[in-house]
Amino acid sequence: MRAADVSSDITEVLVTEEEIRAKLDEIAEQVAADYDGRDLLLVGVLKGAVMVMADFSRSLKKHVTMDWMAVSSYGAGTKSSGVVQIRKDLDTDILGKHVLIVEDIIDSGLTLSWLLENFEARGAASVEVFALLRKPEAAKVEVHCKYVGFDIPTEFVVGYGLDYAEKYRNLRDVAVLAPHVYS
Ligand code: XMP
Ligand code: MG
Repeated sequence: MRAADVSSDITEVLVTEEEIRAKLDEIAEQVAADYDGRDLLLVGVLKGAVMVMADFSRSLKKHVTMDWMAVSSYGAGTKSSGVVQIRKDLDTDILGKHVLIVEDIIDSGLTLSWLLENFEARGAASVEVFALLRKPEAAKVEVHCKYVGFDIPTEFVVGYGLDYAEKYRNLRDVAVLAPHVYS
């Protein structure tokens, strides 16, 4: 669905489907060049990164392998708890591998800094991050995110994989959720 189909639930479209596609192509070209001659494992963080992973991996003009991890740092609400829990671990041994973590959004950065440390401890040859969206708060925590799609304001957003209480993931655009929906 498009933002117009659920217009009473959102206040503003921040990034359109078309803008996302163009950005993914641009970053895919950069990633293909950066990893030229090296095997690359994409690790998607469930569930938010499903759409990014699907489109980004197909934009890449390079063979890759894929794995998934599910972690949670959020409860049912819209604020990070700071506690990261593994809900589904990798199926792959990442020892000696070049890993690119594919994330939907970096908010506080807590999830990512935890994941980076965790992956390095498993002996990955390299670990980099691609986040489609980044909120300014992310700058407060020390996380090195090599590839960023869009910097967005500090507002709760939904769409393109991002949910509120499991809804809105199938929205094609990224939009700001109207406060009346969650307050
Ligand atoms: P932190 O704060 O650890 O959070 O960087 C990262 C994870 O939190 C979720 N998140 C959001 N989900 N709209 C959402 O639907 C948002 O605006 C939002 N901000 C953070 C997301 O799962 C991300 O991986
Ligand atoms: Mg989420």
